[in-house]
Amino acid sequence: MKITSLGYVRLESPDAKEWQTFGPEVLGLAVSDDPHGAPNSVSLTNDDRPGRLVITEGPHNRLDRTGWEVAGAEELEAAVAELEAAGVSVTRGTAEQCRAARVRALVRFSDPAGFTHELFYGQLVVPASFRPGRAMSGFVTDGQGLGHVVLVVPDMDAALDFYHRTLGFKISDEIDMFGNRVVFFHVNPRHHTLAIMAVPGMRGLHHIMVQTASLDDVGIAHDLCADRGIPLAMTLGRHTNDRMFSFYVRSPSGFEIEYGWGAETVDDDGWVVTHMQSASIWGHRPGDAPPPGCLEPVAGPETG
Ligand SMILES: [Fe+2]
Repeated sequence: MKITSLGYVRLESPDAKEWQTFGPEVLGLAVSDDPHGAPNSVSLTNDDRPGRLVITEGPHNRLDRTGWEVAGAEELEAAVAELEAAGVSVTRGTAEQCRAARVRALVRFSDPAGFTHELFYGQLVVPASFRPGRAMSGFVTDGQGLGHVVLVVPDMDAALDFYHRTLGFKISDEIDMFGNRVVFFHVNPRHHTLAIMAVPGMRGLHHIMVQTASLDDVGIAHDLCADRGIPLAMTLGRHTNDRMFSFYVRSPSGFEIEYGWGAETVDDDGWVVTHMQSASIWGHRPGDAPPPGCLEPVAGPETG
């Protein structure tokens, strides 16, 4: 299966409305027109594809689903055949669901941790439409998708098998972080589009990363968080593996936004998997945000 990028992320949150200001004014995301969107939702994007990030009001802070892009209709059909051959139950999106997602076709399935995923092709592009919510130079998305997501899963082996073997995510590298194994995957030149970390008995969204076009964009967002008293989950720092210069801000919905610049890319030709013992060369120290609020207990192997 050949997934080409992270196309969109859908979230549920009691505080969805706070994204109307946090998204554009702090992060610089654009508010998207969303004619087929759910009421009480905030639709945002970081490029010319509207609605890459939609937060809908609901009882819990949780990841609703992630949308993964494939190249076209044939690739989607091939992916469905591969999933079904692997024993994964696949549901085809209705015309209404495709219209709401602004894609030509989508299919939906669950992973071993219980996360919902969609595969799609034919996402809507509105050329030259992106206007950042505040002055900034924009985001790195061309050929690299929305950004990356980091998921907490209860069972590393099951998740690794599913994402790597079934969905075809390629391993970039691994980091041993505070006794936890974190595995990073790529599907395009972005160093990682997905990373997973195992926490027994838990699942959830740890963070979403968006990558800005300039270092100053990160500095300005850092100032804005300080000015508005928005707590940071991790201070400015530079990651060991993708060399991203970033900080982590606690979003209104419990999970974190990694706001970064300057990541290195992956070239599959000659790429060698390594492992590291630290996530950061410097910085990324704990901030003053409370513990993450976007994790939920789940029945894993150790809890039956
Ligand atoms: Fe990250």
